[in-house]
Amino acid sequence: MFNFSLMGAGRIGKMHAEIINSHPECSLKYIFDINKKFANELADKYNASVASTAEEALENNDIQVVFIASATPTHTEFIIKAAKAGKAIFCEKPIDLDINKVNQCWDEIKNLKVPIQIGFNRRFDTSHNQVQKNAHSGKIGQLEMVVITSRDPAPPSLDYLKDSGGIFRDCTIHDFDLARFILGDDPVVEVSAFGSQMVNDDIIKINDHDTTMCILKSKKGVLVHINNSRRAVYGYDQRVEVFGSKGMSISNNQTPSSVEYFNESETFSKEPILNFFIERYSQAYKDQFKDFVQSIKLNKDTNVTFKDGRNALILANAANESLNKGQNIKINYD
Ligand SMILES: NC(=O)c1ccc[n+]([C@@H]2O[C@H](COP(=O)([O-])OP(=O)(O)OC[C@H]3O[C@@H](n4cnc5c(N)ncnc54)[C@H](O)[C@@H]3O)[C@@H](O)[C@H]2O)c1
Repeated sequence: MFNFSLMGAGRIGKMHAEIINSHPECSLKYIFDINKKFANELADKYNASVASTAEEALENNDIQVVFIASATPTHTEFIIKAAKAGKAIFCEKPIDLDINKVNQCWDEIKNLKVPIQIGFNRRFDTSHNQVQKNAHSGKIGQLEMVVITSRDPAPPSLDYLKDSGGIFRDCTIHDFDLARFILGDDPVVEVSAFGSQMVNDDIIKINDHDTTMCILKSKKGVLVHINNSRRAVYGYDQRVEVFGSKGMSISNNQTPSSVEYFNESETFSKEPILNFFIERYSQAYKDQFKDFVQSIKLNKDTNVTFKDGRNALILANAANESLNKGQNIKINYD
């Protein structure tokens, strides 16, 4: 049995608490959030204790695993403290918005050899995962192009946007990771990014972008197109396509059922696609967690490493640089 401390009882923390609690080999023991109301509500729901300080949750002898789902600026501090206390760690994406903080964090923990997994849940989506397998099984021949569409149903609040780190580090970071996952051992070597402000005035106020396209090129020459929007009126649009010398494979949007309607004005009309990440990736979040638990149980490397988190941030930073300079950026992972 693994005993957990959960850091952060906000939007995603609430969902993870349910997943931890539902796993037969895991027990949620402590919750820490600076918002005491959120912490108390979750503790009551899962019969856990509220830690009075972050250290109490991170260093407690009763726990073996720390799950970090708190606000992004807390991640590196909590990772370092948990690693020094010898705990296994799951940390939500991104590790941090600042590559220097990510590098310092790695310097502090690399010799401690604690298991750590980063929350790139999309790798665990059954359909995206199958597309990745199809890209390498020979089914589509030699991989030549990857097309990733990722559009949110509606933009978040101005308060959220102000601290988000910009669309590439907040949203596209998932797609950069998915692109790296699909490419396998063929690294991205170049990034070119474009962005526009088309959705609302909030984005203009904070000088961010809401409509973006990135082109990545891998060492072997595979081209990856990622398009993002902060507003898709028809729902959370999540599609992945791989194209090769012998064919193509697509992971399409999902609807609550496969029922279709046909009438005078429309054909092949379905129910709206699943609304947002908690609904769309519910299976992926659960399987990601099972995979993490399996890794720590078998004492093997996790399948989404600190390095994966760092490399996705490097691509996001390169996209920012490309957009700002109007140039193609060559990637340096050092
Ligand atoms: N993998 C995914 O699909 C996904 C989706 C959403 C969010 N996230 C990530 O999860 C993290 C949390 O996002 P969210 O949407 O739940 O945000 P949120 O604002 O709903 O929740 C964050 C929580 O952290 C708490 N917090 C802030 N400072 C703290 C501190 N010092 N100690 C403890 N708790 C503290 C806040 O009180 C809040 O309850 C972010 O890093 C975000 O990028 C990942």
